Amino acid sequence: MSKFDFIAHNVNLGDGKFTMDQAKHQPLEETERWKAIERSIRLIYNPEELLSARVVDLGCLEGGYSLAFAKMGLQVTGIDAREENLEKCEWVKSHFNLPNLNYIKDDVKNLGNYEKFDIIFCAGLLYHLDEPSDFIKLMFKQSNRMTIVHTHYSLEYDSFYDNRRLSFLQKSAKKLFNLPNYHYPQKYNYRLSDLVEHEGYKGRWFFEFPENTDQKLIESNVAASYSNYKSFWHTKSELIRCFRDVGYVSNYEQYDFISKFTGFDYTEKHDRGMFVLLK
Ligand SMILES: C[S@@+](CC[C@H](N)C(=O)[O-])C[C@H]1O[C@@H](n2cnc3c(N)ncnc32)[C@H](O)[C@@H]1O
Repeated sequence: MSKFDFIAHNVNLGDGKFTMDQAKHQPLEETERWKAIERSIRLIYNPEELLSARVVDLGCLEGGYSLAFAKMGLQVTGIDAREENLEKCEWVKSHFNLPNLNYIKDDVKNLGNYEKFDIIFCAGLLYHLDEPSDFIKLMFKQSNRMTIVHTHYSLEYDSFYDNRRLSFLQKSAKKLFNLPNYHYPQKYNYRLSDLVEHEGYKGRWFFEFPENTDQKLIESNVAASYSNYKSFWHTKSELIRCFRDVGYVSNYEQYDFISKFTGFDYTEKHDRGMFVLLK
């Protein structure tokens, strides 16, 4: 256990020390998710290219992925807006001799202020942004070749949310005949809106904080959005359309990150996928 309270990245610090409880959390570098990310990168870059390749880890949280990239030999920049997260990242880094690992406190919306990156790693972040289409455009502009996006999307038809619009009669009929929902039955409630159009794409709003939430609360909610109260989740097909529209020529959906921890129903239960984009 560590001096900080880690919530997501269980990092092996060496000497038998980990950032999280070993019994409950698999070390990040042993997860199928990390192995899948590494496999994808090695498919695109050869070992020599990797030593000079620059990767940015957007919304790096506790720095577990940044550290793993650095151990591969990549030149790493982790960006996160929250001081508390960066303190954890620096503390983890202090256990290793990795001069190729650097962290910056910034809003990812300022990505355009940096030089281009060979790999843009955007995991758990796109669904925390209010203008994700614009951000995808920005990632394309700032990318030399490869972008990995691990994100939630929304469903075009989702009775979990759309049932709110059913009339009394429809609701009663649904209850009486025990009609199923379209989606995975044990789905987590992400508090999404009705289907709307935003930035030219269809999707649903995800409500993160009430407007005018105290900055202290926003800071302490370490894995949430930072500079917007609500975030927009494209539907899956609109997300893919957006990737194509901004110019990515090859778009793959990767499934080999699914492990016994996440289960084969992971993408359906969470409406979430991993996309590998190339320009
Ligand atoms: C759900 S966590 C994802 C963490 C990590 N990338 C992963 O996949 O495990 C979202 C992270 O993005 C950061 N974040 C959210 N909005 C941000 C913004 N506008 N600028 C910078 N960081 C942001 C949060 O502070 C948090 O660390």
